[in-house]
Amino acid sequence: MTQETQGRGAWGNRLGFILAAAGSAVGLGNLWKFPYLTYRFGGEDPEQGGAGGFVLIYLLCVALVGLPVMIAEVLIGRRGRLNPVGSFRALRPASPWRLTGFLGLLAGFLILSYYAVVAGWTMEYVVKSVAWDFAGNDPVQMFDDFVSNPVKQVAWFFVFMVFSVLVVIGGVSKGIERWNRILMPLLLLMLLILVVRVFTLPGGGKAMRFLFLPDFANLDLDMVLWALGQAFFSLSLGMGALLTYGSYLPRKANIGLACVAIAGLDVFVALCASVVIFGSIFSFGLVMESGGIGNLFTAIPAIFLKMEGGRWMSVIFYVLVSFAALTSAVSLLEVVSSYLIDEKKMLRRNAVITAGTIIFAVGVPCALSFNLLAGFTVLDRTVFDLFDFFCANLALPIGGILISFFVGWVLTTEEKKEELGEFSPGLFKVWNFLVRVVAPLAILLVLGALLMGRVSG
Ligand code: TRP
Repeated sequence: MTQETQGRGAWGNRLGFILAAAGSAVGLGNLWKFPYLTYRFGGEDPEQGGAGGFVLIYLLCVALVGLPVMIAEVLIGRRGRLNPVGSFRALRPASPWRLTGFLGLLAGFLILSYYAVVAGWTMEYVVKSVAWDFAGNDPVQMFDDFVSNPVKQVAWFFVFMVFSVLVVIGGVSKGIERWNRILMPLLLLMLLILVVRVFTLPGGGKAMRFLFLPDFANLDLDMVLWALGQAFFSLSLGMGALLTYGSYLPRKANIGLACVAIAGLDVFVALCASVVIFGSIFSFGLVMESGGIGNLFTAIPAIFLKMEGGRWMSVIFYVLVSFAALTSAVSLLEVVSSYLIDEKKMLRRNAVITAGTIIFAVGVPCALSFNLLAGFTVLDRTVFDLFDFFCANLALPIGGILISFFVGWVLTTEEKKEELGEFSPGLFKVWNFLVRVVAPLAILLVLGALLMGRVSG
C-alpha cells in the first residue's frame, strides 16, 4: 500500500479541501436541477400551494442522511488514501466491498455524460449574453429553439468535455483549486446581488412563500425519492468523489466541521438560486414549456433584461455558472481518471483522454434527447431523463447505503474514533447512529417503495 500511495497529492490545508469539495458540490445541481425540481413538485402557481413540502423534505434528507454519509465517505478516503476502489480494498482487503467503488465509477461515467450537456448550455448562454440576444426575444422561445438544435447541442457538449479533460490533465490542485478561490466567492456575490434585486420585483415575496411555506397538499413518496436523490446529487455523494478528495486530506484535519461547511454552503446556494428563479418567474409570468428544465436559462435573462448593466452582469453570471459546472465535472472526471491511473497504471494524460472520449460517446444520445431523439423513450423517459433517474435516484442512494453500512457496521469504533478525534463522545454517538441506522433505513425504505411500484419517479 505504501508504494501505491506514494506521490499522491495533498491539500495544502483544510481550507483547500473545503474549497475543492465545495467546488465539486456546488454546480448545476444547485443552480439548475434544484430549482427545476422545486418547479416540478411545486406546480407553477404560487396561489395553489407550492414547493414548501419538497424543500422541507430536501433539508431533512441533507441533515439526516446527506451530512452523515458525507462524513462517512470522506472518512473512508482519508483512511484508505486511494481512489474509491483502492480505498475499500485497502481498508478491508480481499472483500467484495471494492465493488462499491466500481458502482461509483459507473455512476461517475453516466452522470458526466448528461451533466456536460447542460454545462454546454451555460457556455452557449455566455455567448448569448455577450451578443445580448435576449433583448427583444422571448426567453422561453429562445431556450426551446436552442435545445432543439442537435448540432449546437453536440458541439457545446464537446467543447465543455474538452475543457474538463484539459483541466484534469493539468492536475486538479494547481489550476482548478486556484481559480476556485476567486470564482466561488464571486458566484456567491453575484447570487446575492440577484437575490436583493428580486425583492424589488413583485414576485420576490411570492417566491419566498412558494419555497418556504410548508405545504403538504401534494406530498407523496415520489417527492421523497427525488428529494433524497437530489441530496446525494447536489452534495456529490455516493460515488466516491468526496472519498477521492478526502484521500488527499491531511491526517489532522477536522472532517466533521469541513463537511458541515460544505453542506451548508451547498444548501445556501441552491436556495438562493431558487429564490431568484422563482422571483423572476412570478414577476414576469414566464411559462415553462419544457417543464422547468430550462429555468436557469429563461428566468434569469428575464431579470437581467430589467437591470441597469444587465448585459455585463449576465455575461459574468453565466461565466460563473459555467465555472461552477466545470469544478463539478472535474471532480467526476477525476474519480474515473484516478482509478485508471492507480489501478490500470495508465499515464494521467492517456487515462483522462480515454475516459473523456468514452463519456462523450455515451453522452451524445443525451445531447440529442431534446431534438432528434425526443420521441425515443425507455420506461417513459428520454435518454437524458433515464440517465439522470438511474444515477441520481438509484446508483447514488445505493452507493450511499453501502458507504454508510460499511462505515457504520464494518469499520470498528476504534478505527472511526481515530479519524473523528474532534467529535465529543455524544456527537460521535449521534453520528454513528445516523450512519448505522437512520441513513441506510431511510434510503432502503424509499428504494423499497420504488421497487414495489409505489413510486413512479
Ligand atoms: N454536486 C454537483 C452539482 O451539484 C455534481 C457532482 C459533482 C456530482 N460530483 C458529483 C454528483 C459526484 C454526484 C456525485 O452540480
